[in-house]
Amino acid sequence: MAEYRWKAAVVTLSDKGYAGEREDKSGPLICEILTESGYDVQETILLPDEKEEIKKCLCELCDKKRMDIIFTTGGTGFSPRDCTPEATMDIAQRNAPGIAEAMRLASLKITPRAMLSRGVSVIRGKTLIINLPGSPKAVRENLEAVLPSLDHGLAILT
Ligand code: MTE
Repeated sequence: MAEYRWKAAVVTLSDKGYAGEREDKSGPLICEILTESGYDVQETILLPDEKEEIKKCLCELCDKKRMDIIFTTGGTGFSPRDCTPEATMDIAQRNAPGIAEAMRLASLKITPRAMLSRGVSVIRGKTLIINLPGSPKAVRENLEAVLPSLDHGLAILT
């Protein structure tokens, strides 16, 4: 269990999910894992892979809703529509690369395709934003790699 109940938001980026052509399994899985780990998931959002929409959503979650942490899922790969890392970097104020590095390092031990995620981890104000890949399998593996260390980082950030 986390020492504090951090306010968390989960944002799924998927054109197909947004259009109702594919069920979003990763967003609910992140919520489940976070809740089990003591986080207070206050917002769950599903958006298409549209950079400006993603930026607006992330800014609102940071600046108005004052989330402690935001996890995104999807849109980190090489498909021409994938723009989650670019949207995240555009609204970032500080880089926190170690989290994305740790996720790729751990994930590379499981699949060489981990190198294909372009996900980033950054800070805006007092909010930590972490990009996770899109599949439920990748979500679980990436969260396992970093969740145990986030509590300390969030305590320093707030
Ligand atoms: N990381 C882990 N731990 N496990 C995985 O199965 N899949 C990879 C990678 N990271 C994967 C992973 C694959 S196949 C891709 S294409 C990228 O994440 C990007 O995924 P996204 O486009 O769904 O964001």
